[in-house]
Amino acid sequence: MRHFTVLLLLVLAVVLPSINANPYSYSSSRQTDPGDGPGGVDNDGPGGVDDDDPGADGNVPDLGDGNGIPDVSNATNPLCVPWYGIRDAILGGIFHGRCGDEARASVRLAFHDAGTFSDALKAQGLPNGAADGSMIWDPTEVLRTENDGLQPIVSILSPLPAQFGVSPGDLLHLAGVLGVLACPGGPRINAFIGRPFPLNVAPMGLLPSPEDPVPKLIARFADMGFTVRDLMALVGAHSTGKQRFVDPALANSSFDSTVDIWDVRFYAETAAPTTPPDVLKLDSDVNFSHNASTFHEFHRFINNQEDWDEDYRSAHLKMMLLGQNISTLTNCTELMPASINLTNLTINGTVDPTLLEAAIQKYRAPWLS
Ligand SMILES: *[C@@H]1O[C@H](CO)[C@@H](O)[C@H](O)[C@H]1NC(C)=O
Ligand SMILES: *[C@@H]1O[C@H](CO)[C@@H](O)[C@H](O)[C@H]1NC(C)=O
Ligand SMILES: *[C@@H]1O[C@H](CO)[C@@H](O)[C@H](O)[C@H]1NC(C)=O
Ligand SMILES: *[C@@H]1O[C@H](CO)[C@@H](O)[C@H](O)[C@H]1NC(C)=O
Ligand SMILES: *[C@@H]1O[C@H](CO)[C@@H](O)[C@H](O)[C@H]1NC(C)=O
Ligand SMILES: *[C@@H]1O[C@H](CO)[C@@H](O)[C@H](O)[C@H]1NC(C)=O
Ligand SMILES: *[C@@H]1O[C@H](CO)[C@@H](O)[C@H](O)[C@H]1NC(C)=O
Ligand SMILES: *[C@@H]1O[C@H](CO)[C@@H](O)[C@H](O)[C@H]1NC(C)=O
Ligand SMILES: *[C@@H]1O[C@H](CO)[C@@H](O)[C@H](O)[C@H]1NC(C)=O
Repeated sequence: MRHFTVLLLLVLAVVLPSINANPYSYSSSRQTDPGDGPGGVDNDGPGGVDDDDPGADGNVPDLGDGNGIPDVSNATNPLCVPWYGIRDAILGGIFHGRCGDEARASVRLAFHDAGTFSDALKAQGLPNGAADGSMIWDPTEVLRTENDGLQPIVSILSPLPAQFGVSPGDLLHLAGVLGVLACPGGPRINAFIGRPFPLNVAPMGLLPSPEDPVPKLIARFADMGFTVRDLMALVGAHSTGKQRFVDPALANSSFDSTVDIWDVRFYAETAAPTTPPDVLKLDSDVNFSHNASTFHEFHRFINNQEDWDEDYRSAHLKMMLLGQNISTLTNCTELMPASINLTNLTINGTVDPTLLEAAIQKYRAPWLS
């Protein structure tokens, strides 16, 4: 019997190899454009126009040097200026520009921080979780069983709020959206700052578990304000996840066969009767793919990266604002680099590793090390 509660999302649990002594050593000097790559970032293309959907990808300005990375010298909101350096410290010093264990762990951490929110508790005036950074502020929360595997990323991120003079919630949730973006294909989610310090440790027993039955999960997510469609979009983050604790005998197995890219293969493979090598399917994910109440929203993302990108963006945005009042926050989406678009890297339905690496070299150059 599996006795742990791991999270529903992103059971990626990770060991971080030792990190550079100084994770903030990234220098913000501009990189020269390595030249025209295989294409992959939609800087200014059709469809990049801003709209009213708060989860929509903002238009990435034409940056001149063509790598899709907004530079602080072009910042438009003074409140966002310090965050360009924080962005670089995370993407460079911690993620090294790639979809590695630190990036995965940061996405999982964002969910574990926010996934303890409860509208019902809030309505009663009780402590209710919230996307508040309590995971990197309270030393005990990360020790809970359901947070196993998050200790390394928590110890890396927890000194940063004091170092940069920012709130734990802002730091943690910027790391979450940058973690998504560090994975090629990962959408550019809007970024907000201004969360106050956490009011309390997250209440116990609220984080959804992959061992919960479908109706219980639907109800728990509804108590956070998520629809079934939001929930089905969020579980797709398993696309780049790995597990160590659900089934320790299969440690480091992923949830789909393309763990290094943020794609929709997870949905097709989870719904299929067979399982690819080195992949582990979570019971809850498999049941989502079958259960009548989730079937439709699960299956709509199969082979549909575009719909998933859009729905994931808005669901993640909702998640990182749980318990926060958006009208008191500042929109710093301007600092978010462009997403690496997988379309032009795909040959015959499969992302080509050479084209993928070339795109990473071009669009993530300043942070690679
Ligand atoms: C899982 O991956 C981590 C590095 O991310 C490594 O330290 C560990 O040895 C791996 N475990 C197994 C069983 O392969
Ligand atoms: C893909 O390549 C085509 C043809 O070169 C180009 O017009 C388009 O902008 C590229 N799309 C992306 C998302 O890079
Ligand atoms: C935040 O800014 C982005 C682009 O800068 C924009 O697309 C988005 O609509 C804004 N969101 C809100 C809620 O203001
Ligand atoms: C900053 O903006 C100027 C003018 O809008 C543009 O020419 C330049 O390429 C931009 N630089 C960067 C690094 O974004
Ligand atoms: C998933 O569904 C199977 C069969 O329908 C059931 O036995 C199992 O308990 C379910 N698991 C979860 C986590 O709901
Ligand atoms: C499928 O969903 C229905 C309705 O929500 C529920 O009653 C049933 O227990 C679910 N089945 C599984 C295997 O979770
Ligand atoms: C959110 O903040 C605005 C601006 O400070 C305030 O007017 C509003 O009452 C707040 N809403 C809630 C639900 O606290
Ligand atoms: C990737 O490019 C395709 C084709 O240009 C476009 O339809 C899609 O919306 C782009 N995806 C993202 C995340 O920008
Ligand atoms: C794509 O698949 C078709 C049909 O299987 C094949 O003829 C073609 O050579 C493939 N193209 C590439 C670039 O692999």
